[in-house]
Amino acid sequence: MRLRLGVLISGRGSNLQALIDAASDPTYPAEVALVISNKPDAAGLDRARAVGIATLVLKPKDFADKAAHEAAMIAALENAGVGLVCLAGYMRLLSPVFVQAWHNRLINIHPSLLPAFPGLDTHAKAIESGVRFHGCTVHFVRVEMDTGPIIVQAAVPVSDDDTPDTLADRVLIQEHRAYPLAVRLIAEQRVTVGGNRVSVRGGTMPNTVIAPIP
Ligand code: GAR
Repeated sequence: MRLRLGVLISGRGSNLQALIDAASDPTYPAEVALVISNKPDAAGLDRARAVGIATLVLKPKDFADKAAHEAAMIAALENAGVGLVCLAGYMRLLSPVFVQAWHNRLINIHPSLLPAFPGLDTHAKAIESGVRFHGCTVHFVRVEMDTGPIIVQAAVPVSDDDTPDTLADRVLIQEHRAYPLAVRLIAEQRVTVGGNRVSVRGGTMPNTVIAPIP
């Protein structure tokens, strides 16, 4: 049976689309079972509906507090038989209770080479800092924001005339490769977490992606 994914989104959903596209191949070892959004107008919801994937909008304002909101999310994920929760542009911080409930079954994609540039505006920060390589990271989620064992990273070169937008576009292309790769490695049970390090069985450097210089 394929690993059932619960994908949490807040907006565009292009990484959700990358997972949907990967899973359209029946040999891919995971499938999107449920998409949850905290925003009713998230464009990603339409991507899921278009291919008949169950969606759920859970607005924090409709709940007494954060604990109640997250309890509803956990219940929905469990009811859908989800084995791995994927944050894909989910722009709310999860509480320690949620993070512990899905320990090592909760992953995130972040648009930088962590631990560089946690938080927002990562592409502008990369340009300002002068780094020659930028990229994205798929990692297991820990309580502290944008930390946790790194599963896959993809690096892209930074060119002299990059703007945050051009750099974001170049990174996003790699996000759409890195996220399905990380999910595949987990679904194939090739990933082991030891402390803050992930090791991956099989293949040579199977969890690094380097984009060509444009
Ligand atoms: C992606 O670039 C993702 O890495 C980023 O938000 C974007 C969502 O795009 N996530 C974060 O910044 C989380 N801290 P998408 O909705 O098209 O997948």
